[in-house]
Amino acid sequence: MSHVYISHSTRDLDELLEIHEALRMAAIPDWYAPNDTEDRPKADQAIDDAFAMIVIVSASAVRSKTVRQDVERAKARNLRLIPYQIDKARMNGFFKHEVQPHLKLSSTLPDGVTQLVDEVQKAYKRKCPVLAVMNLKGGVGKTTVTSQVFGAWQGALGGRVLLVDLDPQYNLTQTFFDMEQADASAAADRSVISLFERSKLHARDATSPGESWLTLSTEPFSPVPRKELMHDLMGEGSPGGRLDLISGQFEISKYAFANDSGALLKVKSQFLRMVDHYRSEYDLIVFDTNPNATFLTRCALEAADRVLAPMHADVYSLRGVRLLNQVIEEQVEEGKRPALSVMFNAVGRSEQSSFEAEARNGTFDGKAGFPLSKALLKAALPRSGHLMVKAPKDGQPAWRQLVIHSGRGGGLKAIRESLKTVGMELKAMLED
Ligand SMILES: Nc1ncnc2c1ncn2[C@@H]1O[C@H](COP(=O)(O)OP(=O)(O)OP(=O)(O)O)[C@@H](O)[C@H]1O
Ligand SMILES: [Mg+2]
Repeated sequence: MSHVYISHSTRDLDELLEIHEALRMAAIPDWYAPNDTEDRPKADQAIDDAFAMIVIVSASAVRSKTVRQDVERAKARNLRLIPYQIDKARMNGFFKHEVQPHLKLSSTLPDGVTQLVDEVQKAYKRKCPVLAVMNLKGGVGKTTVTSQVFGAWQGALGGRVLLVDLDPQYNLTQTFFDMEQADASAAADRSVISLFERSKLHARDATSPGESWLTLSTEPFSPVPRKELMHDLMGEGSPGGRLDLISGQFEISKYAFANDSGALLKVKSQFLRMVDHYRSEYDLIVFDTNPNATFLTRCALEAADRVLAPMHADVYSLRGVRLLNQVIEEQVEEGKRPALSVMFNAVGRSEQSSFEAEARNGTFDGKAGFPLSKALLKAALPRSGHLMVKAPKDGQPAWRQLVIHSGRGGGLKAIRESLKTVGMELKAMLED
């Protein structure tokens, strides 16, 4: 669990609580030392777990030994500092050197706290980007890319990765689990529906949102602990690491039929809050999505920092990507739009097709309606029998479905290299 650490002097309690409340509203977890105790090991641990540190800069903070120790630890850990000035403190030498160079925000600015939360939110999103795998054309490899590329990412590049099955067809879930397992999970609301509506996972006496197609629950709910919702794909006998799945279910199609726009707005904002909340537990969150533009598409686009569109080397895929870009530009507010990257999937192994070559040299930019040639990843995935969908075998652990961990065999080495190369290119792009 990662959080933003708030370094403060015990005298600045009002400001501390105001910032804490603003962060809570933005679903960003924080940590600050309780006022009455001085527990250095605990504070140090909290700094080591943090993704950034807010320093409340005041006359008393400048004199505080605790704040100084916090800042020194942050520096040693190369942790991002976000100072926030609340009075006319005169900086001493240490503050001038270590804190002032980062100081941009203060309570004297209009919306000072809002600006502070925005800055923290940027750091939070950078720590765990959300990527939606999407194309408004079916069958181009969205589910395959979500499982195999990001399974390979986790296996080869490390990090804590969460896959979310946002497609009512729930093929991603069926990649790892047989139908009975997938359906049992859905019946217990241990599925993606618990990101949208209050469910049995949140309260035992709640009605399952999957059972009531005609009503939407707009009651607010709190996130449940990770282990109650997520499936751990790297279980026993696996090479280890964290690759989790929020399984899917058909009943999330209900949102496409609902016509209460006020209720849908609330359901969407719960989803966005939940995604933001779980960023604290991961380094990357990936959505597999449905091929048609629905409420779920909007949710995915609003939550995502980047969209990855797999495409085949043909005009149908090109049209899907064109429509996708149009939806992003027309339906998502400026400033909140995810960046769009496109990746060729299932290309001929031996030579680059003329379609791919033309796409890369800009011939299709006009048809695509945006600079497709610039949005294309350099790496591509070849067409390969190893990437063709296979039902999970009885009794075989979920992680064995991942090509990166699936044993030996002709051509596997080359496919693994391709999966890793795509992963590395994406990682560099997200860190940029
Ligand atoms: N690189 C590849 N080589 C060979 N087969 C592939 C490759 N990528 C995907 N496939 C196969 O193509 C089919 C469609 O892929 P997939 O289900 O991933 O597409 P999708 O975009 O998720 O489809 P949908 O729009 O229905 O969700 C599957 O049978 C899959 O195994
Ligand atoms: Mg799919």
